[in-house]
Amino acid sequence: RKIKLKIPATVANLVCGFDILGMAIHEPYDEMEFKLLETPEIIIRHKDSFGLPEKPTENVAGVVLLKIQEYLNLKKGFEVIINKKIKPGSGLGSSAASAAGAAIGANELLGNIFTKEELVYFAMFGEELASGVKHADNIAPCIFGGITLVKSSNLIDIIPLNSPDLLVTAVHPQVEVKTSDARQILKKNILLKDAIEQWGNIAGLVAGIQNNDFGLIGRSLNDVIVEPIRSILIPRFNDIKENSLELGALGGGISGSGPSIFMISEKEEIAQKIADMMKSVYNEIDIESFVYVSKIN
Ligand code: HSE
Repeated sequence: RKIKLKIPATVANLVCGFDILGMAIHEPYDEMEFKLLETPEIIIRHKDSFGLPEKPTENVAGVVLLKIQEYLNLKKGFEVIINKKIKPGSGLGSSAASAAGAAIGANELLGNIFTKEELVYFAMFGEELASGVKHADNIAPCIFGGITLVKSSNLIDIIPLNSPDLLVTAVHPQVEVKTSDARQILKKNILLKDAIEQWGNIAGLVAGIQNNDFGLIGRSLNDVIVEPIRSILIPRFNDIKENSLELGALGGGISGSGPSIFMISEKEEIAQKIADMMKSVYNEIDIESFVYVSKIN
């Protein structure tokens, strides 16, 4: 039996909710094909041309499948064919898609024996291989869909939130920002006054999402802790943000650890104008970019 899955890209952090908020979007997505094998091998093949390792212990999907095999003491194996369309290193949850996709695919082949929380648990081993940290803010929306709050990644307490009918424009400029580097540069201590502002924003954002209060969502998409440091790694970040707000975006910021930038808007027409603006800002400075306009998935 073969199964085919589409695994969505995700935007982690949602600006103020570092490591706890994330949302799945329609575009781009990875395609994954799974087959259960009667022997305990794990075979990973990539149809894309990103040159990712295919050895199971070095592959994000591979380590997740190995964990599942070990946990169940399984005598069967898996063959996975991955066609990655979410570019690695984009900040759009490429590694999370492989990790979450592996957990979802294996679960389906095994007769849906795991809860979503258990799938998050297994998928976090993939994220750990990719970035050195077991964060769940990309994996959780990949597995649950829509927008999720990771109330705790130790206890795997995931709260699925409402999915407001909004559009997401994302631009991926072709500059390299490694998640591990983008985490290293952050300060280990923050000021109480900044913490107060930040948790006001997070609470406001969650309330706005739950109540479909788009004005409140816009006012809450501010980050006084991470964005001021990380945005330095992304060329023209401030221009893109300011121009987007002028064009009518509710707000936005860095997608995950970057370099992608995302903006949220209410109308397709605005989302499209933002996409065109993003493309032309990077054209001006000769940086190739990919732009996506999606809905929340
Ligand atoms: N929350 C993580 C970070 C997401 O911002 O480092 C990385 O994909």
